[in-house]
Amino acid sequence: MRIRPRRLRRTPLLREALAETRFAPARLVQPHFLLPDDNARSAIASMPGIERMGLEPLLARVEADLALGLASVLLFGLYEHKDAHASAARDPEGVVPRAVRELKRRFGDDLVVATDVCLCASTDHGHCGVLEQGYVQNDPSLPLLAEMALAHARAGADIVAPSDMMDGRVAVLRDALEREGLHETALLSYSTKFASGFYGPFREAADSAPKSGDRRSYQLDPRNARAARRESELDEAEGADMLMVKPALAYLDVIAAVRAATSLPLVAYNVSGEYSMVKAAAERGWIDEAAVVREILLGMTRAGADLVISYHGREALEKGWLT
Ligand code: PBG
Repeated sequence: MRIRPRRLRRTPLLREALAETRFAPARLVQPHFLLPDDNARSAIASMPGIERMGLEPLLARVEADLALGLASVLLFGLYEHKDAHASAARDPEGVVPRAVRELKRRFGDDLVVATDVCLCASTDHGHCGVLEQGYVQNDPSLPLLAEMALAHARAGADIVAPSDMMDGRVAVLRDALEREGLHETALLSYSTKFASGFYGPFREAADSAPKSGDRRSYQLDPRNARAARRESELDEAEGADMLMVKPALAYLDVIAAVRAATSLPLVAYNVSGEYSMVKAAAERGWIDEAAVVREILLGMTRAGADLVISYHGREALEKGWLT
């Protein structure tokens, strides 16, 4: 036999030298769920290993994560006060702007701070936009989202990330940021976000489940890859600095397709349900968690993601799963 691919897989050093995909800690983004009470922390039943935190535990956690090389965070706020127009989420003194200010004051540019911009955690109906006549209204939602993004950007967020899936929100947010002189605030669009069962644990964590109906009139249909590409093209044209595919694991083909269609940086969101499935199987001893997490993070990278938002991030670095 002349051709034997196994020759190049014979030793660990050969395998390492020829690895096509590598995963650097700088590619990881760790999500955090912020509680309004500064000293609070609370477990999330469906996401073992992840907890909601108030400002004080968050600061300690971020400091420890920085020592691991985990230098990017994505912040989600939890809100006690909920109403029809998401006023708590738009409050410049709200839980997210306060945390952003404090994180940037403490860690400056050693930390990348991204914030999720969406109304669902602070609307009384749990939808991502304004709900009227049983339908999520597109255009009335846009100024509210812009106000929320401005509150985060003024507090010093490096990146604002709209996840609502309203049409035209990237253009509206970008224009609002420019108008306010916030030229350097980057916009990461959740451009390609599917209506997915994989968000279940997140909605427990962020208390953001819709009280009626579902999100299928605004989030993408999981059957549609062309529509997915179109959403990312539109957001690029509207001025997004980065695009995202979410969820990631069942949508690796979409990551590869969007990668091929844009030269913008691309982010994969390894979402809550993907995390919880791994945790549940690992707890039962059914899978080797380290190996599975490594494959998942590398797989998303191999498919074309530059960054991966993952709840596994901190544990993977702490336990050396990626090396
Ligand atoms: C808010 C939002 C959701 C997620 C991120 N931002 C939930 C949703 O759209 O219902 C999901 C993240 C995850 O599952 O980890 N719109």
